[in-house]
This record gives sequence, structure tokens and C-alpha cells, in this order.
Amino acid sequence: MAKPRRRYACTACGSLAQRWQGQCPDCGEWNTLAEEAPATVFSARHDLSSGGRAITFAAMDTADAALLRRSTGLAEFDRALGGGLVPGSAVLMGGDPGIGKSTLLLQAAAAVAKGGASAIYISGEEAASQVRLRAARLGLSDAPISLAAAGSVRDILTSLHALPPPALLVIDSIQTMHSDTIEGAPGTVSQVRGCAFELIRYAKESGAALVLVGHVTKDGAIAGPRVLEHMVDVVMSFEGERSHQYRILRSLKNRFGPVDEIGVFAMEGAGLVEVANPSTLFLTTSQEPVSGSAVFPALEGTRPVLVEIQALIVRLASGATPRRAVVGWDGGRLAMLLAVLEARCGLNFASAEVYLNVAGGYRLADPAADLAVAAALVSALADKPLTSGAVWFGEVSLAGEVRSVAHASLRLREAAKLGFESGHGPGDPSAGEGGLRFCPVHRLPNLVDRIMGGE
Ligand code: TYD
Ligand code: MG
Repeated sequence: MAKPRRRYACTACGSLAQRWQGQCPDCGEWNTLAEEAPATVFSARHDLSSGGRAITFAAMDTADAALLRRSTGLAEFDRALGGGLVPGSAVLMGGDPGIGKSTLLLQAAAAVAKGGASAIYISGEEAASQVRLRAARLGLSDAPISLAAAGSVRDILTSLHALPPPALLVIDSIQTMHSDTIEGAPGTVSQVRGCAFELIRYAKESGAALVLVGHVTKDGAIAGPRVLEHMVDVVMSFEGERSHQYRILRSLKNRFGPVDEIGVFAMEGAGLVEVANPSTLFLTTSQEPVSGSAVFPALEGTRPVLVEIQALIVRLASGATPRRAVVGWDGGRLAMLLAVLEARCGLNFASAEVYLNVAGGYRLADPAADLAVAAALVSALADKPLTSGAVWFGEVSLAGEVRSVAHASLRLREAAKLGFESGHGPGDPSAGEGGLRFCPVHRLPNLVDRIMGGE
């Protein structure tokens, strides 16, 4: 009989190869090819329609369908989770190094433990004494958390099985865990996947809520296989600029709730402090009107957040290639907006350097910010401050039209509440809310006339 041929499958993308290679030819990941069991020939001998155990089917409205959630003790964390931790679920928490993941989870574990439930915090990155030192800095030394420094999943699971299941189990981080049943160093794709699989299985069986910390690569993705994101129930990202105080906890995937709610925190000397009303956080409080600054009423889930967008334009004397730098917004979208302003409004940015910054380390992804960015750019180019007390919103098309955006009235209502006097965007003049005057802008040339004309 012919020997079955060996096959190798990539653990990251699943593609098959006939021979082993260091790098997967499909997805480009290194050290991810692993030998697969030879393909089985399906025949009558492999009839799967009998011989198995019967599974029971249940109705959709069975009583246990109601999800019990447990508070993390931090209302902003609960909000981002969609109402708290679900027992038996797995959460993957990504974020840049030093952003505050360990701090946040230590604070959550302390709150859960102080609430009378058991919380276990296992660090593979720091020694127990270092974690204790951090807890002391946070004023949490007295919290009854069970703390351990370990990296072997076998040791961890053996110890956990000897204990009653905790309400919260934090693993900091999944890249430092290793399993002796899998080849490769900690952090390799197969180790990360295998360790996560075992830990998630423990969570499902025991009912513990599991939080895995995940490192993030330079381009912002969670390091390790994409399959990790499929294996967990919730993927969260903890964002912010390290040089700024504010941190945003966002859920990118949530099997148990909405994904557009955020939690807002401020990193202070004694750890992360919740910010319950973030609407004015990202506004600077300058009294003098300056050119190139526009306020955008952003929306995070159901919460409005007013954000300041700053643009700076520097004319170059010589023919050097001008720079375009952007912080907190998409560089491609800036290029598009500059092209639309040039082509549709006759403005000239060709020999100018363009800098765009979203204040306070906030990151904007909403296309509704287009009009505010355009207003900041035109104001910077003309060196004319925008009308004070104004907010700007609307999506700009390649034709230079300003399109309507979701929740315009909610944005305007919040701006009015905070004392803004006028709103500029697509819509009807009667759209003003709570004393705020609404000035419709339907085409970019209208915006340019309004700013240049000093209306
Ligand atoms: P950390 O939680 O270790 O980040 P991560 O686990 O995401 O890598 O956060 C470390 C940063 O937070 C560090 O740069 C110092 C800062 N920090 C404070 O400002 N205040 C504090 O009370 C603590 C504990 C940390
Ligand atoms: Mg850490």
C-alpha cells in the first residue's frame, strides 16, 4: 500500500503545503506550518450516521438563556463589555505596551475580589513582587486577589482544578504562556493558539470569566493568529496616546452585546480613574480664537464626545516635497479631502506642508468628521479663525458634496448643552437644537465661501 503523503497546514491561515517551509507562502507568517494527519479516505467503512452518542436539542427559550453578568467593579469597563463579564466567557484585551492593560485588569480583579467573589491574576510578564508593588501604588494591597507569576499552562490548569473556580481569571499575557504539549517558544502562533484553547476550555467548563491580555504588533493587530480573535467571545482594545492622560476601552467584537460603546479612563498617579462624562475631554480650553481649529461632535456608541481638530499649513519657499503628517485620523482620507478641496474649490495645497492633529490623543474613524477636517484645513490655509462656538460635521464626497450623517440631532443637542452656538453641516435650517443655530452646508465651495467671507 502506498504510504500516505505528508501534508503541512499553516496554523494561522489554514493553507496546505506539500513540504515544510519556514514561512507560509500564503499569509507570510513564520514558523506556522505544522504536519497534518494524512487525509482520511471516506468510504462506507466510515459511515458516521450511527454509533455516536445522542445529543439533546433544546428550545430557544430555555431558562438558562438569560445571561447573568458580573460587574468588573469599574462602570466604564462594564459599559464597554455591554453590561459586565459573562461567566464562562473569554475576553481578549489588546493594546500597545504601557497603555495600562495590566493596571486596568489589576484594578478590576481587586474590585471583583473586594466584592466577595474570587479573582485570580496570573502574570507571565512580571514577578509576583512587581505586581504587588503595582498594587501598593494603586492602593489595592488589601484586595484579596490570588496572585501568581507563572507561564506553564499545565501548572496553571493543574492548580486551578484544585481550587473552586474563580469569578474572574486574568492571564497577563497570552504571549508569555506555554504548553509542553506544543512545540515552539512562548509567543509563537501555535503556542498562543494552543494555550488560549486550553484556557478557554477551562473557562467554559468552570464558568470563570477569562480575560487574556494580548500584545499588539506595530500595525495595531493583536499579535498571534487571527484565529485567536475567533476563539474568544469578546475582543477589546485599550487605546490612547501614551503621552496623553486619556484611555479609551473599545470592544471590537462582542458575542453578548453591542460593539460601539466605549469606556473612558484617565491614567493618573494612582491608576486609572473612570471618566463618566467624556463629552468635553478632548476640547482644549484656549480662549483666543486660532486659525486651523474646528470642533467635531463625535459619537461613541450612544455618547457624544466633542473633539477638537487642529490643522497647520506651512508654505514652502522652495520646490522641496511637502510633508503631510496626521495624528488621530486616516492619512488616506486626508489626502482625499485635500484633493477634493483642490479640485472642487480651487484651493492650492500643492506647495504647502499639511499637519493634522486630533487633540487629546483621540482617534477618529467616523467619516462624519470630514467637514470639520475640511473646515480646519481651509481656516488654516486662509489663516482665519473659524466662528467661535461652532461645531462642524458631514461626510464629504469626491464630488465635493456634503452628505448627511447618522444622529445629527443627538450631536447638535450635546453641542447646545455644552454652550455651543452654531452647528454647520448638511440638513435643514430648522435642524437647530436647544438654542443652537443651524447653518446648512451642502457643498464644500459653500464652506470655503463661509470661511473666507468671515461669516
Ligand atoms: P501597564 O498597566 O503596565 O501597561 P500594559 O500592561 O498595557 O503594558 O501601565 C504602565 C503605564 O502606566 C506606565 O507607563 C506607568 C503608568 N501608570 C501610571 O501612570 N499610574 C499608575 O498608577 C500606574 C500603575 C501606572
Ligand atoms: Mg502589562
